[in-house]
Amino acid sequence: MVSSASPIPSVSVFSFGNPIETGAFVQSPKTWTWTKGVLPAGCSLTPREPKGFSIKFDLGERDAVVGLGQHVGPVNCRGNTFRLFSTDCPVHIPSLRSMYGAHPFMVILRDKPIGIFIDAPGEVSVDAGASTSETIEIKVTNGGFYLALITGDTVKEIAAKYIALTGTSFIPPKWAFGFHQSRWSYENESSVRSIASKMREHDIPCDVIHMDIHYMQDYKVFTVNKERFPDMPKLSSDLKKDGLRLISILDPGVKAEDGYSVYEDGKNQGFFCKRADGKGDFIGAVWPGPSAFPDFFREDVRKWWGDLYKPLKAEGFAGFWNDMNEPSIFYTPDAFKEFAKTIHRFDVENDFSEALANTLWDKGVVNKESYYDDFTHTVDGEQVPNREVHNLFGTQMTKAVADSLAAEDPTKRYFLLSRSSYPGMHRYAAIWTGDNHSWWEHLSLNIQQLISLNLTGFLFVGADTGGFSGDCTPEMLVRWTQLSAFAPFFRNHAAMWAKNQEPWAFDEKTLALCRTSIKMRYALMPYIYSEFIRSASLEEPFIRGLFYDHKEAADRLDDDQFLCGRSLLVAPVVKAAAHGRMVYLPSGSWLKVQGSENGLTGERLQASGDTYIEASISETPLFLKLGSLIPMTDPASHTGAESSTNFRLLAFTDSTAQCEILLDDGETKYSSWESYPKVLCSVAKTNGKWSALARFQGVAPRPIFLELELWSSDGTRETLSVNV
Ligand code: GLC
Repeated sequence: MVSSASPIPSVSVFSFGNPIETGAFVQSPKTWTWTKGVLPAGCSLTPREPKGFSIKFDLGERDAVVGLGQHVGPVNCRGNTFRLFSTDCPVHIPSLRSMYGAHPFMVILRDKPIGIFIDAPGEVSVDAGASTSETIEIKVTNGGFYLALITGDTVKEIAAKYIALTGTSFIPPKWAFGFHQSRWSYENESSVRSIASKMREHDIPCDVIHMDIHYMQDYKVFTVNKERFPDMPKLSSDLKKDGLRLISILDPGVKAEDGYSVYEDGKNQGFFCKRADGKGDFIGAVWPGPSAFPDFFREDVRKWWGDLYKPLKAEGFAGFWNDMNEPSIFYTPDAFKEFAKTIHRFDVENDFSEALANTLWDKGVVNKESYYDDFTHTVDGEQVPNREVHNLFGTQMTKAVADSLAAEDPTKRYFLLSRSSYPGMHRYAAIWTGDNHSWWEHLSLNIQQLISLNLTGFLFVGADTGGFSGDCTPEMLVRWTQLSAFAPFFRNHAAMWAKNQEPWAFDEKTLALCRTSIKMRYALMPYIYSEFIRSASLEEPFIRGLFYDHKEAADRLDDDQFLCGRSLLVAPVVKAAAHGRMVYLPSGSWLKVQGSENGLTGERLQASGDTYIEASISETPLFLKLGSLIPMTDPASHTGAESSTNFRLLAFTDSTAQCEILLDDGETKYSSWESYPKVLCSVAKTNGKWSALARFQGVAPRPIFLELELWSSDGTRETLSVNV
């Protein structure tokens, strides 16, 4: 029998078998009222042997499928297959089916769109009309799951209902909206200090430096290498004076080494995952070599792990970066022995046969999938193989930290980044898109991922700017920095084997162009910060595919341009040696704007439709929607130095336009958009005359200086300076 509940209007949740509670829903399904349910027309469900389910939905000829969070390929998922099974995937090629995060929420775009969320923590595969073009088939491997069906008139309504069901986005402190510089690894104190001083020397705004695995002693989590970093608290407090914060990476694998307190403690308390064959703790190798993995599915283990972060805060780390939490497993001692035995069978001097080649190819031990059958978690008091709850591992690890950071000071926001994720985690951490490459294709892919992840509720996201693996080129760094300047999470990060790609790593021209984009980001901070928090609070994506606001764009589902907030259309240049690109502007009036280190200024009106727009290496095609008011300020060297009284506003309207500028302290939590301290600015054009007003909300009025640039759709431009 199928039971169903309707926790919010237009949402029906169906329950099949015995679902495992994942925490994706804000409220526990146990609290809902369940009655006998009937699946709607166009949707069918069949059980699969030995267990699991197949769910099918009819697809009309023109229907598109959007969402599915982190994936490769176009925004429109139709015609592709996906396997949602969290995976450490170092090469993001088009045939890749699984990535770090598993996000089983999608919308079938049609006249009456429908949202589908499959809440199942094991593998979920989606055949979005690849095998049979008129059907989308979703296969669930768990013996029970929840299916939420969301109806509405627009994708916007459906996305908002999905957020109402699963919760609003994580909002980090303001400094996290600044520029982050990272590398695997800035491996000692002098290299970190040198990065910090180069930022200031080269006049590059920056708020954060990331510390990758070399800050640890032998990759042991929660340790600091005292030779490389003799006085971390002093280093972090010196940097803080200059507005720079340090973030430390942490992995779930705890080095299995006698005498190492975290390992001893976890082992003695029985906190590590058990082998499925009952022979003690499961051991798998990651950076530190053989390691044990905490069973984050247990509340007591999460509490223990969460508390371990506290001493790192005392070292001066301002935020944390949870990595490798799919979890990635390079090998297990068992698998390695098995591999060695297989290889041994060959005559090492003479046997260079096809059989050897096949063995080397097939029997690889890195991230072998069978590892996820080899260890268990404690779920509802029972030992369950990792595979059954696999997609939740990283989320449970991140929850451990989030709970601890939130409990430490419930009034303040914190910064937490995770590689693996599952719906629900978007409420308490940010994600990045993992180990991309310095490939132009990945610069393009970055746009799709920003759009799809934002639609799936993960708002504070971004990619490794410049690319992680492979060598970035000067031109690519410039173009990528231009794109990431609009991404919520803006971090330049590179692999150990990649060439340096800090803004100054190439030549003066590249440095100057990167500086301009980063300064523009800081000049736009009042818009980006306020608009992001508004989107997060009001159940909207911040980065939007054009189809989100413009129904006419649903037929084309462009992957190469996006809206940053409600007002600004960004069409980045993502091709090598390009001096322009095609841009599509939905019907309506648009103002082409120029970006510079001072933010945006109007350039000229731009007709809607498809147009080739010139864009030299210093330009990104940017457009303002009619009815917009964009707040900006002078770019500061870090967010803490930003002015809260002097703003520049760029308006494009024929009547009125409003914007909200947050005036909060950048770290206090507020329960709603309404309660944030802010100033509401508005401009009006009456009988050809412009006026401006400012109204304070939740904060004492203060003198504010506004410099306005005012455009109308007849192409007229005026300026105005007012003290309000
Ligand atoms: C993983 C992460 C990457 C990090 C590296 C070393 O590959 O995805 O960002 O730099 O591990 O810690």
